[in-house]
Amino acid sequence: MGIAAEGLVVHFPGSPHPTLREVEMSVPDGSFTVLVGASGSGKSTLLHCLAGLITPTSGTVTDNGEPVLAPDPRRGVAFQRDVLFPWMSVAANIDFALRAHRVAAGQRRRRIEELLDLVGLPGDVGRKRPNQLSGGMRQRVGIARMLAGEPEVMLMDEPFAALDALTRLNMQDLLTDLWTRLRRTVVFVTHDVDEAIRLSDTINVLGGGRITNRITNPLGRPRPADTLADQPAYSELRRTLHHELGIERNDFADPPTP
Ligand SMILES: Nc1ncnc2c1ncn2[C@@H]1O[C@H](COP(=O)(O)OP(=O)(O)OP(=O)(O)O)[C@@H](O)[C@H]1O
Ligand SMILES: [Mg+2]
Repeated sequence: MGIAAEGLVVHFPGSPHPTLREVEMSVPDGSFTVLVGASGSGKSTLLHCLAGLITPTSGTVTDNGEPVLAPDPRRGVAFQRDVLFPWMSVAANIDFALRAHRVAAGQRRRRIEELLDLVGLPGDVGRKRPNQLSGGMRQRVGIARMLAGEPEVMLMDEPFAALDALTRLNMQDLLTDLWTRLRRTVVFVTHDVDEAIRLSDTINVLGGGRITNRITNPLGRPRPADTLADQPAYSELRRTLHHELGIERNDFADPPTP
């Protein structure tokens, strides 16, 4: 079944144009769906609709056939900005999510260790505060905290955008590995074409308030960063996406004659 958006319109009060106009999108169970689009195209807005955080002006979102009217623990959200509580230790941040998920007190300490291990962090990180961690480590904690709620669907809004290139590749590998092992559904927002290609089964392109294209990723897995670019299918998909997103090749050819 999965998640489906039908005829989704979002028109923010005071805005001259609707942000989303008649979005049709389906996210099959177990898929890794990537949503790409230019800055301001409405990616976060659409993701928040799927999460039940925004009530659309019209249209519907369903999750396994049930209307999505409010946030639900079934759907975990990783926000665009990292939203750990800075005054709490890493362990307390994860514990917060476990409590919200009503995990029994006797099990929470072990569960925190398991979750840290799952995202590749040593147990002693639990005692640290978010500001003592690198950006990549904070993102790992954010993912651990999202997984604490055992969501069926992980809705992720550009979680790796602030990371350096190498850390970003490592986090993509971590997420792919988690997705393969846990078999959850992922909807991942990015405006990075290479990230979209590396992660996705399916790429939905958002532009002009609509899904303008839905592309099945032909590349097999795993997708090692160092050799991926050598595959012709990679270059072709990259070209297609650049074209879709209106990223023109700038060859600095002849200047226009006055
Ligand atoms: N709560 C809001 N009230 C009014 N306008 C909003 C609100 N949230 C978003 N918008 C507008 O909707 C449009 C899309 O915003 P959104 O954050 O969804 O884009 P985005 O594709 O996620 O961009 P980015 O890549 O920069 O994160 C923008 O024009 C934004 O100003
Ligand atoms: Mg956004």
